[in-house]
Amino acid sequence: MPITTRQLIQWKQQGRPISVLTAYDWAIARLLDSAGVDVILVGDSLAMVALGYETTIPLTLEEILHHARAVRRGVKQALLVVDLPFLTYQASPQQALESAGRVMKEAEANAVKLEGGYPALIETVRYLVQAGIPIMGHVGLTPQSVHQLGGFRKQGKTPETAEQILQQALALEQAGAFAIVLEHIPAELGEQITQALGIPTIGIGAGPNCDGQVLVTSDLLGLSAWQPPFVKTHANLHEIITQAVQQFCADVKAQKFPESS
Ligand code: KIV
Repeated sequence: MPITTRQLIQWKQQGRPISVLTAYDWAIARLLDSAGVDVILVGDSLAMVALGYETTIPLTLEEILHHARAVRRGVKQALLVVDLPFLTYQASPQQALESAGRVMKEAEANAVKLEGGYPALIETVRYLVQAGIPIMGHVGLTPQSVHQLGGFRKQGKTPETAEQILQQALALEQAGAFAIVLEHIPAELGEQITQALGIPTIGIGAGPNCDGQVLVTSDLLGLSAWQPPFVKTHANLHEIITQAVQQFCADVKAQKFPESS
């Protein structure tokens, strides 16, 4: 049976940790899905790790939809969540409904993720949930606000900003979100928010005591040009691919490939 948002909430209650990874194409989505990852996220990190933009800001709805449709074709079991890009939901609840609606209908996503916890965004989340769209929140470091935050910096380091992030998470839960990503905040704050909420927290640089953990798959596999300090690389595909390509080039030059029959 495919994984549901209700199941994630039950897993939190049972203390069963939740695994989340990003995918941007069919081939990787199939691999992640059959390897047993619980949630696959078509994150707007797509912009930086697959499309070569410097931030997530330039990404368009059309671009993420194109990738999300490919990922959908590779996902059978995991819950499929898709990010709404910058300025495709902030203008009004109506704009958010139209963008989220396209993601749900055209990419057949199971849920939509959006960033922030300010009052107008909370109202938008409430509106989307009432319309039947499952919402994953995202607080702490919200990369779509990188210029306002002054870089990809850790958030919630003072008691005031920590309290603000906690309140945002509580408000998102109240508005009907089924899970919340906590990005790049102190581990103690990640734990405090996790204990305060009935819905699962998914941490990325938020310490070990969140209900689940998410990584950008290119970081996990050692494929990123740059990666944040909290990432644990589980494989070095950069080296493996470079060696394979160098070997191919050498074989072609030496006329060792293809072998004559
Ligand atoms: O865009 C993304 O990949 C994300 C994760 C880092 C949570 O939002």
